[in-house]
Amino acid sequence: MQDESYIQITLQMAEKGKGAVSPLSLRGVIIVNDGKIIAAEFLKDRHSEQPEFNLLSKCNNIPNGSILYSNINPIITSRDEERYVALFRNSGVKKMVFGTLDNNSLFYNKIAKKLKESGITIISGIMGKESIDLNRFFLKYGSSQTPYVTLKMALTLDGKISDINGNSKWISSVESRSMVHELRTEYDAVLVGYNTVITDKPSLTVRLVEGRNPKRIVLDTRLELKPNSDLVRKNKDNNLIIVTDKKNKDLPKLTKYYEAGVEFVFVPVNSDGMLDLKSLMRKLGRMKITSILVEGGGRVFSSFIKNKLDDEILLFIAPKLLCEGIPLCSGLGINSLSKAYKFYMNEVRKIGEDALIRLMRR
Ligand SMILES: NC(=O)c1ccc[n+]([C@@H]2O[C@H](COP(=O)([O-])OP(=O)(O)OC[C@H]3O[C@@H](n4cnc5c(N)ncnc54)[C@H](OP(=O)(O)O)[C@@H]3O)[C@@H](O)[C@H]2O)c1
Repeated sequence: MQDESYIQITLQMAEKGKGAVSPLSLRGVIIVNDGKIIAAEFLKDRHSEQPEFNLLSKCNNIPNGSILYSNINPIITSRDEERYVALFRNSGVKKMVFGTLDNNSLFYNKIAKKLKESGITIISGIMGKESIDLNRFFLKYGSSQTPYVTLKMALTLDGKISDINGNSKWISSVESRSMVHELRTEYDAVLVGYNTVITDKPSLTVRLVEGRNPKRIVLDTRLELKPNSDLVRKNKDNNLIIVTDKKNKDLPKLTKYYEAGVEFVFVPVNSDGMLDLKSLMRKLGRMKITSILVEGGGRVFSSFIKNKLDDEILLFIAPKLLCEGIPLCSGLGINSLSKAYKFYMNEVRKIGEDALIRLMRR
């Protein structure tokens, strides 16, 4: 088998950690000797040790000349640095092949040099694009300390997210909606505007598939969401975060929300009278939220796009035409095609009756 095939296997293994390893990276690791996989392990959750420690302690007789493959380098803290290097100095692993290397890591900056001095060859960039894509949340967060942001929209053919009465249930097919629940299990948080809470009454939990709930973030400038609203009352998993104007910090009514396990993030309001999203991203980053799925509505999408805070857009386009209705965004102040925001299509596929398009900024 070629190096690509082994890295492909580590990518598939790494995927099993989705939704459980954040803020760490998704990792699969295999050790190959003479064309045979002799050990395999993936990172199961954020509390587990890096797979290498488990692998090498389980197989103390790794034959000389073995090769370690992984989609990305491990996260080793300075406390474990010597232990990690010693593990490999004393093993039969003579080469390491990585899909990508995280250049913010201790491994990249220090440990790789020590391993090379011990006679271990290290190469990277095998299936690099796929490896970077799988760990895009981790890599963005590591380089910016702010979350990776995906805007998820269900649209008609003419770009409407709701009908003229504000009704958006259901634009997309049941298959698309199941996929959205799957996505919720993978992101650290989902985020909506207060108007969407009022019009759609979303639960923002995972129900159509197995998996854990993400944090649920609501943008609510004037703190209009009532303590007896469904979202607050049903906050049994304590995942609800309300983002509001920092002027609301000392309101006596906050006690009622705190009693329901609600967390608050206070941010300044910008010159448009809306919550400052850049400040919010920094604060959520400090809370170790590495990825956010923004689920609407139109004004929230517009603000993220206008502030260039979107890393990715997922469009679920249903084969339906409304002509009248709420557009996916507005108020961007673009008056000519030459000034249009430009994207490239990373992926296009059919899901149920809908087209799914994955876009990234150019
Ligand atoms: N098809 C879809 O994918 C989809 C998904 C979700 C919702 N929807 C539809 O979208 C409609 C609701 O959209 P909407 O545009 O009326 O409201 P929205 O985007 O859901 O919410 C806007 C709310 O967020 C608050 N907010 C605070 N800071 C903000 C900021 N920086 N940027 C934007 N909003 C901020 C606003 O507060 P202030 O009022 O104080 O400024 C306002 O209350 C509904 O009809 C719903 O059915 C469709």
